[in-house]
Amino acid sequence: MLPEYYEFLCPVKILSGLKALSNLTFEMELLGVKKALIVTDKGVSDAGLIKTVKKAFGGSKCEIGAIYDKTPPDSGTDIVNEVAKLFLDKKCDCFIAVGGGSSIDTAKCANMIVVEGTNDLMKFQGVERLTKPLKPFVVIPTTAGTGSEVTSAAVIYDRKNKTKLAFASGLLFPDIAILDPKMTVTMPPKITAATGMDALTHAVEAYYCLQKNPVSDAYAIAAIRLVFDSLLDSTLKPKDEKKRLAMLNASLLAGIAFSNSLVGVVHGIAHATGGVARVPHGIANSILLPFGMENNYDKAGDLIAELAPFMGATTTGSKLDQAKSAVAAVRELANELKAASGLPTKLSEAGVKKDQLEEIAKTAINDGSCTMNPEDITYEVALDIIKQAF
Ligand SMILES: NC(=O)c1ccc[n+]([C@@H]2O[C@H](COP(=O)([O-])OP(=O)(O)OC[C@H]3O[C@@H](n4cnc5c(N)ncnc54)[C@H](O)[C@@H]3O)[C@@H](O)[C@H]2O)c1
Ligand SMILES: [Fe+2]
Repeated sequence: MLPEYYEFLCPVKILSGLKALSNLTFEMELLGVKKALIVTDKGVSDAGLIKTVKKAFGGSKCEIGAIYDKTPPDSGTDIVNEVAKLFLDKKCDCFIAVGGGSSIDTAKCANMIVVEGTNDLMKFQGVERLTKPLKPFVVIPTTAGTGSEVTSAAVIYDRKNKTKLAFASGLLFPDIAILDPKMTVTMPPKITAATGMDALTHAVEAYYCLQKNPVSDAYAIAAIRLVFDSLLDSTLKPKDEKKRLAMLNASLLAGIAFSNSLVGVVHGIAHATGGVARVPHGIANSILLPFGMENNYDKAGDLIAELAPFMGATTTGSKLDQAKSAVAAVRELANELKAASGLPTKLSEAGVKKDQLEEIAKTAINDGSCTMNPEDITYEVALDIIKQAF
């Protein structure tokens, strides 16, 4: 059924292929820029990926003005301000994020700080608070999960309040996303599995959350097919570039889907689990996804049933039977990934302590994602899901 009204937006130019990175400086020239600040982290740099990006600058008029490689897993306002200062000190004219969601979102927020001419990131927390377009911005993802290269969102950690802060604006989209499997083949199996399950969570939640529409549905389904086809193989055979490229595309498609339809209770609780217990985003989502789907049987069971064929699950029986078989397929994938990489399937295995469950539930119900979930998420409902997943 069509929604009475919907909007859909993805203004990002996408370059996808085994040699996509070789077009980097050509794209910079098209954007009219030539001095880049690269935002990355130590793991990405140690994997040799910045060397690979430097090579792509060979023979061009473009240059790297500076490299910031100290992005932490969930960076905060202090890091964002440091990155923005480096951009201005080195007189760079564009941002290139090379990394997973942590580096991409740090670059997004530093870009905001530069164009808004302030060091108070908090002013822009929430929805549509930006007033100026970003500086030219290229993203080269090195994980296949967040889809942040095509989303209008950024997530930053607030150390003081142990929560994750979300920023969303139509002005936050990068200009270019370069999907090149050279940049993900170095990802260790457990990070491959966890980030891939983040992509699956985006696609599944996008398919039944309240702002869903026919366009986001198409992206979500394409992403789910690719995840079920390629995530386990990418985890078992890290050097398989075709599977890596398939997962980069899955992540991108799921990112486009959820940036428009938004996500639900799984993300609400995953953000809180990350904030309170420091569980990485993909791991938290992977653990919580089947429980979040079950929570939505009453209001969105028919939609969950529609996903079964794209997950290789049973498509016979009642709608509820089919929804249950979709959830079973998600659990089976998570278990296979656990065997392949050690990916946890319970919050207790991911380092969450029993005495943190109530704080996670309290934090989760204040997360914006819960408001887009079909089923109402009260404290009791959130705590029940968390206890089941513990
Ligand atoms: N903005 C959005 O739309 C959005 C969506 C979902 C999640 N997020 C945020 O993204 C963050 C998580 O991002 P992530 O899951 O991509 O992980 P990440 O960026 O934190 O990276 C995880 C680890 O993997 C390493 N790594 C990354 N790529 C590698 C590679 N190719 N080879 C070797 N090591 C590599 C990194 O060094 C790091 O140690 C969270 O803060 C989450 O809240 C944002
Ligand atoms: Fe996510």
